Amino acid sequence: MKKDEKHFDEWSKSYSGVTFVGPYFLNYLFRELIKEIKGENFKILDLGTGDAKLLKAIAKVNPKNKFIGIDFSEGMLKQAKNNFNKGEFIKTSMEEKLPFKAKTINYVVSSTAIHHVKNKDQLFSEIFRILKENGKLLVIDQSDKEDLEYKKLKKRLKREKPTFWKNYSKSFIKTERESIKELKKFKIKHPREYHLSPFSIKKKLESKGFSEVKIVPTPKFFVIYTATKK
Ligand SMILES: C[S@@+](CC[C@H](N)C(=O)[O-])C[C@H]1O[C@@H](n2cnc3c(N)ncnc32)[C@H](O)[C@@H]1O
Repeated sequence: MKKDEKHFDEWSKSYSGVTFVGPYFLNYLFRELIKEIKGENFKILDLGTGDAKLLKAIAKVNPKNKFIGIDFSEGMLKQAKNNFNKGEFIKTSMEEKLPFKAKTINYVVSSTAIHHVKNKDQLFSEIFRILKENGKLLVIDQSDKEDLEYKKLKKRLKREKPTFWKNYSKSFIKTERESIKELKKFKIKHPREYHLSPFSIKKKLESKGFSEVKIVPTPKFFVIYTATKK
């Protein structure tokens, strides 16, 4: 685990400069999640917060909430504090018991981080435990495994030509190239990834008690998940 933390510490030095994800990608994906967050005076927790881009974007729309970010990389947390001064940041691993009491969080969000977690069963149980009733989980994550159901869902969406897919691929390919160049500079190996197919994630979430688990495909390998604790 230490090696993975080091990788992110190293990456954190340039993380806000050459962004891992491009502006279109961010606008598009974050918009999909942010529109789900309704109301004020809520506790919003970001898992694997990095430099807190997602929390900052949410705060622009819903400033009267409490924002908490967790990450195991000291370097990333330093960037988070510099980037977003309205947040509370905690150094902890998503592989551990989450440091929050049961039923205390309204929204758990996460962007491109959960695929680094090996024990997703434990993480999903923990998220379920800390969410309040009617609390929501909103996630964007990568998946290099597409199951048949997911492929069908993606195909259907492609046929419908949704406007929110417009420009996504072009913008993403550009930033993908940039981020590969960026990662090549590192002496430390890329951290471990534990991808699951989107529908296996859905099944796992449902097995923990989540309802209304929804999958929204993107044209590339990012997937949006939303789920509610009823
Ligand atoms: C690809 S970055 C995404 C950062 C940010 N959410 C974003 O969208 O830009 C993955 C983040 O997850 C964090 N991370 C990875 N594995 C973790 C773990 N087991 N516990 C806590 N944080 C972790 C990394 O330190 C890094 O900040």
